[in-house]
Amino acid sequence: MAKPGIKSMQLYSHVDRIYNDLKSIGVKDQDPLNVKMLTPFDQLHYFGTDAVDEAIEATGITEDSKILDVGAGLGGPARYIADKTGCHITAVELQPDMNDVAKSLTERCGLSDKVEHVCGDIHETELAKASYDAIVSWLAVYHIPEQNRLYQRLGNALKPGGKLYFEDLFRKGDFSAKEQYEVDHLLYGANMQTEQQYVHDLQRANFSQIDFQETTEMWTPHVAERLDNWRAMADYKTEVHGEDIVAALDSFYDVVTRQFKGGKLGGVRVMATAG
Ligand SMILES: C[S@@+](CC[C@H](N)C(=O)[O-])C[C@H]1O[C@@H](n2cnc3c(N)ncnc32)[C@H](O)[C@@H]1O
Repeated sequence: MAKPGIKSMQLYSHVDRIYNDLKSIGVKDQDPLNVKMLTPFDQLHYFGTDAVDEAIEATGITEDSKILDVGAGLGGPARYIADKTGCHITAVELQPDMNDVAKSLTERCGLSDKVEHVCGDIHETELAKASYDAIVSWLAVYHIPEQNRLYQRLGNALKPGGKLYFEDLFRKGDFSAKEQYEVDHLLYGANMQTEQQYVHDLQRANFSQIDFQETTEMWTPHVAERLDNWRAMADYKTEVHGEDIVAALDSFYDVVTRQFKGGKLGGVRVMATAG
């Protein structure tokens, strides 16, 4: 069977749908934007900016910090962090269409001097040695193959004592053949690790103070509620986005909910210190 590509995950189809969301609140194509207007639509992880606030607090980001965001998506977390703290943040995103939208939203928010968008694979992106105070990431690491090489690169890019903070998915048990197919194809889980593998790979990359906090209990009802809300608002969402987008996201939210309820997929917040 052909190896799935990242666009097999329906969340990543029609990434310019955020412009439909903005139109639905009366914002036209070239209108100026601010971060607050965007946050209901540009946070592609769980618990929106509350989750980002926790990262800011845990990593101690200030105006003077230099931050790297891995798998930045539409740039929502990066813009929020820059706007809230005044720090400089480099937002690396693999998918060119996603990165183009992210860059344009950042320009329209007037944040281009604080948020630098880089399109590329984090395995290949140039990362200067010991240059970041913290590296953050939401729901991207499980997409990224060669986890050990990833942590080596991130550890190298962090200043000594710098923090790595990410929220992600992990493998809690053995997936059935059908579940594994969904993980590979519908969630693009190129590297769905167990807790032991995560910790082992981080230790091998010379990270210390590794804190692996499971979030599954909090995320399972959250993803179920997201699906219920999407279905309850299907008529309105169809007016905003059209049938194809509504169906694509319904199918994505459904598979995520089933996977969490199945008990083999878990959620995690990882914090570790470089060196
Ligand atoms: C679920 S989205 C989350 C986006 C963003 N972190 C947020 O929370 O709004 C994960 C993102 O990671 C990106 N990604 C996956 N593999 C990557 C890689 N190797 N290098 C850079 N970005 C990657 C995907 O393209 C996707 O946009």
